[in-house]
Amino acid sequence: MNKLDTALVTSALEDAGFGFTDNVKQADVVLINTCSVRQHAEQRVLSQLGHLKHIKESRPDLVVGVIGCMAQRLGDKLLEHEVVNFVCGPTEIPQIKQLITKTLKEKKKSLAVTEKIRRKPSEQQSQALEEFESAYGIKDESIPAQAFVRVMRGCNNFCSYCVVPYVRGPEVSRRPEAIIEQIRKLADHGVKQVTLLGQTVNSYKYKKGEKTWSLADLLEAATDVEGIEWLRFVTSYPSEEFFDDIMQVMAGSPKVCEYLHMPAQSGSDKILLAMNRNYTAAGYLELLDRARAIVTGITIAGDFIVGFPGETEEDFQATVDLAEKARYKNAFIFKYSPRPGTTADKRLQDTVSAEVKQRRNVELLAVQEKISDELSRDLLGKQVQVLVEGLSKKSHVNIDRDENPQLIGRTSGDWIVVFNGPESSAGKFSQVTIESASPLTLFGRLAEL
Ligand code: 5AD
Ligand code: SF4
Repeated sequence: MNKLDTALVTSALEDAGFGFTDNVKQADVVLINTCSVRQHAEQRVLSQLGHLKHIKESRPDLVVGVIGCMAQRLGDKLLEHEVVNFVCGPTEIPQIKQLITKTLKEKKKSLAVTEKIRRKPSEQQSQALEEFESAYGIKDESIPAQAFVRVMRGCNNFCSYCVVPYVRGPEVSRRPEAIIEQIRKLADHGVKQVTLLGQTVNSYKYKKGEKTWSLADLLEAATDVEGIEWLRFVTSYPSEEFFDDIMQVMAGSPKVCEYLHMPAQSGSDKILLAMNRNYTAAGYLELLDRARAIVTGITIAGDFIVGFPGETEEDFQATVDLAEKARYKNAFIFKYSPRPGTTADKRLQDTVSAEVKQRRNVELLAVQEKISDELSRDLLGKQVQVLVEGLSKKSHVNIDRDENPQLIGRTSGDWIVVFNGPESSAGKFSQVTIESASPLTLFGRLAEL
C-alpha cells in the first residue's frame, strides 16, 4: 500500500512538473511517506526528521512534508516538530500538489488529515481519491512491467493489535470498471504483471445492480485484459466465505499466479481470540488444505506476530506447530509492538519481555528457514518461468561468472530466482533451469530454448 502511495504521489508530482533527486541536499522539497504498523517504523521517521533538522539549519527554505499513516495518526503533534511544514494522511493524498505549492509560497504550516477517520468517507472525498488513483495510477517505474492496483481502501477488521483501521479508515471496495480500466491502461503502457491490493483483498465486494462483484469475478475480468500475463493479489484474510471461488479462478487461469499470502499471526487459539482474528488454528490449516487441493503446487506465505500480550511458551509452541504444518514458502515474523489507540494496547499489558520476543522471533525464523530450504530444494533441476525484475542488487557467489550480469526475477509462485542474463531481459519472461537453492533464493541458468 505504501509503495503504491509513493508511486501515485511521484506520478502526480511528475505530472505537475516537479523534478526528482535522490540527494536530500539538492532538494527543495522532501517528502517522507510513513508507516505506523510498528513503533520501529515510526522511530525511523523521527530519526530522519532529526537528520533533516541539520540540513534545514543551513537551508531554512527547505519544505518537509510527512505523508501516510503516521501523518494521520499523529496529525498536529507531528506538525509541531520544528522541521515539518505539512502533514498529509493517506485519505487526504489528492491534496498533495496544492499542499506543496502553498507551502513553497506561503511558508506556513498546514495539516491535512481526516478528522473522523472511521466515518464513511464523504462523496466528495471518495471522488477525489478515486480521481487521484485513476489519473495517476499509470505505473510504478521501480520494477519494469509490474504495477500495483488498489482494489479496496481501509479495513473493518479491527484485529486488536493493528493500527490500520484507525489510519486508513473504513473498508471501501472500488468500482470494478475503474479497476479494470486502470489495468487496461497499465497493459497499454507495457505492464505484464498486476498485483491487486487490499488489506483483506479476498473480501472485495462491490454491488452493482443485481450482481455483487467478488475478487474471483474481478480476477476473471482482469485475465481478459490483453497484455496482462500475471495477476497476483495481497493480502488475504483467512475466511471461509471468501476463499474457494478465488482458488478455483487461480486453478483455472494460467494468468492468476499460484501464490497465496494469508497471515495466520498465531497458532494458539487463545491468542487468536485475543487478537480478534475470527478463526482457529485448525480452521486456518483447513483453508490451506483446501487451497492445496484446488490449486496443485500453490505456494503459500504467511505472517506471524510473536510476543503478543499473554503469549506463554505453550502458545508460542502452538505457533511453531502451525508453521510446521503450514509449510509456507516464507513467513514474515514480527515482534508485537503496542500501537496507541488499538484495543490490545488499551486493554492488555505488553507482558512479554523484549528478550523473550527476540528469542521467539529467532526460533520461529529457524523453523521457517528449514521449511523454506526443503521446499526450495524441490525445485532443483526444474525449469521455471521467471518475470525478470532487473539487475540483482547483491552479487551472489552461488552462480558462476559469465559475460552477462546477474539478474533477479520471480516465479509465478513468488520464488526469487537469480541467474546470468542480458540486462535487456528486465520486464520480460525468461525460462531458467534451477541449479542450486538457498532458503529464500533459487539460482539457475537461462534454459536453452
Ligand atoms: N505489532 C507487530 N506486528 C504487527 N503487524 C500488524 N500490526 C502489528 C503490531 N502492532 C504485522 C502483522 C501484519 C503485518 C503487515 O504486520 O503480521 O500481517
Ligand atoms: Fe490490520 Fe487485521 Fe485489517 Fe490486516 S485485517 S489491516 S491486521 S485490522
